[in-house]
Amino acid sequence: MRVDIVSLFPEFVAQVAGHGVVGRAGERGLLSIHGWNPRDYAQGNYRRVDDKTFGGGPGMVMMIEPLQACLSAVRAAEPTPAPVVYLTPQGKPLTQPKVRELAALPRMILLCGRYEGIDERFVEAEIDEEISIGDYVLSGGELAAAVLIDAVARLQEGALNDAESAAQDSFEDGLLDCPHYTHPASHALGEVPAVLRSGDHGAIARWRRQQALLRTWQRRPELMAGREWSKEDRKLLKELGIPLE
Ligand code: ADE
Repeated sequence: MRVDIVSLFPEFVAQVAGHGVVGRAGERGLLSIHGWNPRDYAQGNYRRVDDKTFGGGPGMVMMIEPLQACLSAVRAAEPTPAPVVYLTPQGKPLTQPKVRELAALPRMILLCGRYEGIDERFVEAEIDEEISIGDYVLSGGELAAAVLIDAVARLQEGALNDAESAAQDSFEDGLLDCPHYTHPASHALGEVPAVLRSGDHGAIARWRRQQALLRTWQRRPELMAGREWSKEDRKLLKELGIPLE
């Protein structure tokens, strides 16, 4: 997958992409990241990319022209079609199904805003999707873009060493993950649950599923609302005393 980042700080996002799973995905040729700075496409001695907001008020707004010129260069660099995704607190909340959808594309173009945002005319004309990574305000879209790149990179085929681990993640099934333990089995902080040491794979899978249900119920009950439950899940929920709707 190819990711193009349009940002006033493209090297900042590229930095994040140099480490861990994302870095390895790059080394394995599964992901390539290309940074683009609208300032390089701005006119005049000052290479201005922002201006005051019409109607008055604090903050600066990113101007249409440098963004348009920059985006044209991004498109001209490579013919593969790609949606333009704008990272903004006004966007739709990022979810694992959305990550999966984007991860399956051959390319995406990420646009990071700074200041008060981007001239709305550019957003209406050029942006395919607006995505938020949560109900809080960052000082720019760069960290949000880094989050999205990380989530998408680890889903590229061959990016993770243990092929199973992505499928078993939190949210892949719409539930939180179960607890995990490692050696030593016995420690001053407590014991590893006996079932995990039993070697009974069926019992272990049932326990893990039940723990995932319990955690989701305790921490994020809204994730469970309106769901269709399998017969097995119904049984596990009943054992926990969690009422079915
Ligand atoms: N830019 C600033 N805040 C953001 C957020 N919460 N999500 C995505 N982009 C942002």
